[in-house]
Amino acid sequence: MWGPEGLDEVEAELLGPPEELKGKDVLEIGAGAAQCSRWLAAQGARPVALDISHRQLQHALRIGGSFPLVCADAGELPFADASFDLVCSAYGALPFVADPRQVLREVRRVLRPGGRLVFSVTHPIRWAFPDEPGPEGLSVSSSYFDRTPYVEQDEDGLAVYVEHHRTLGDRVRDIASSGLRLVDLVEPEWPAWNTSEWGGWSPLRGNLIPGTAIFVCERDGGPPAEGWGSD
Ligand SMILES: C[S@@+](CC[C@H](N)C(=O)[O-])C[C@H]1O[C@@H](n2cnc3c(N)ncnc32)[C@H](O)[C@@H]1O
Repeated sequence: MWGPEGLDEVEAELLGPPEELKGKDVLEIGAGAAQCSRWLAAQGARPVALDISHRQLQHALRIGGSFPLVCADAGELPFADASFDLVCSAYGALPFVADPRQVLREVRRVLRPGGRLVFSVTHPIRWAFPDEPGPEGLSVSSSYFDRTPYVEQDEDGLAVYVEHHRTLGDRVRDIASSGLRLVDLVEPEWPAWNTSEWGGWSPLRGNLIPGTAIFVCERDGGPPAEGWGSD
């Protein structure tokens, strides 16, 4: 599942035709409880589920699956160059790091030439709206251009949750500067069958403004060019 709209990979085929997933080495970053890796394994792929949170991986372990779980930072992938055919992420890692380019450079490094990265994040336009499912979530309340991160702190002032905003243009430049090629940007529409409300996600908002952005990128054959892309 790529996001709260309910678009799943069976329908989207963003990683390629399901029959071609068989035998593919796939890295899932920010895997959480590894739902995507579990589905990939069921298709005959060889997933590796990576998350920085040991706790999340404990959930993955509890739910089960016969694929490796790796506790590591997506910005420092503990794999050799060109180890994977595909890298995927549903809302994992990238919204939570201050330097997404470091993650994308690492992804490019571990992808084989011609390999593909597909990742979903909250659609950047949502940053400007309150995270409310009702009509109050439809009026702009802050600047789309304000990159100040959203931070929640505990009673000692320790940051316990941080989300970083990138505009759509920032994301495109992040991808290009990492030596990856953007081949598609999917903005799933809210489907009629999905009547659920969850946090700021609702049919009301989903029918009017996009909620998820899915970036489909490919790694070309050559080595990374010095100074690829620009700010
Ligand atoms: C919103 S959850 C998404 C989990 C899962 N992909 C899903 O679809 O349910 C985000 C995940 O990214 C992980 N994460 C955050 N920063 C990370 C980093 N730097 N490296 C690896 N994982 C990270 C979190 O621990 C969390 O499990």
